[in-house]
Amino acid sequence: MEAYSAFAYVYDKLMKDVDYEKWTNYIEDIFKRYGVIPKNMAELACGTGNLTNKLVGRGYNLIGVDCSEDMLSVAQEKAMDVSEGSVIYLNQDMRELFLPTELDAILCVCDGMNYITKDEEITKIFKSVYEHLKSGGLFIFDVSSYYKLSTILGQNTYAENYEGVSYIWENYFDETKNICDFDLTIFVKEGKIYKKYEENHKQRAHKENEIIENLKNAGFEKINVFDAFGFEEPKENSERIYFVCKKM
Ligand SMILES: C[S@@+](CC[C@H](N)C(=O)[O-])C[C@H]1O[C@@H](n2cnc3c(N)ncnc32)[C@H](O)[C@@H]1O
Repeated sequence: MEAYSAFAYVYDKLMKDVDYEKWTNYIEDIFKRYGVIPKNMAELACGTGNLTNKLVGRGYNLIGVDCSEDMLSVAQEKAMDVSEGSVIYLNQDMRELFLPTELDAILCVCDGMNYITKDEEITKIFKSVYEHLKSGGLFIFDVSSYYKLSTILGQNTYAENYEGVSYIWENYFDETKNICDFDLTIFVKEGKIYKKYEENHKQRAHKENEIIENLKNAGFEKINVFDAFGFEEPKENSERIYFVCKKM
């Protein structure tokens, strides 16, 4: 099965310990630190809209972009309960990004960029993001670090058993390609039986210097790198790294 098809409908259950309120606060702290007051934004690889819908709830207008129809259908349903700003969900592959308007900020959180495995695709996305930003606009994204994918997740197997859904998550890190393969087996209770679904996800362990080089080539001049969810430089064992880039 394709990544984020069956998984889409249990994603939020499995992410229930992720504090998206704190995540949203961090994004707003970045806006403040850079003196930017955005109104119109896009979130790439927005998934089930956990961050998108929170930002809409705080009054921003968002375009949520994701290549998984299933993830977007969950996001769209949750958007019914949100007012304040406006939201449009677009089923689009960010490698072929086309947005209807220029934006004040473009975001991509929780591993979206790790799913982009080829150099030329990363280059294309960064260039396209740059084109879609107004001058003074911010591009904010994170990656799961090389350390996290190679040392913590890679070669490990995880399993969780919740009410109505269980999963086994087997990981293999290939250090010749810097790719972590996630083999996910999900059991979902449907009536009296459990249905088994299998998906493969591939994430690239990006190196910080390669990303910075790519961002510069795309036109970004002001680039900062932080250990998530603060403003310190990443450490050797940082698991999530934030890139904040301003279009001058
Ligand atoms: C780990 S989820 C993160 C979702 C969301 N950002 C969150 O914070 O919960 C990764 C998402 O990236 C999306 N994705 C992966 N490759 C993509 C691509 N090339 N274009 C658009 N979305 C992509 C997947 O469909 C999935 O929804």
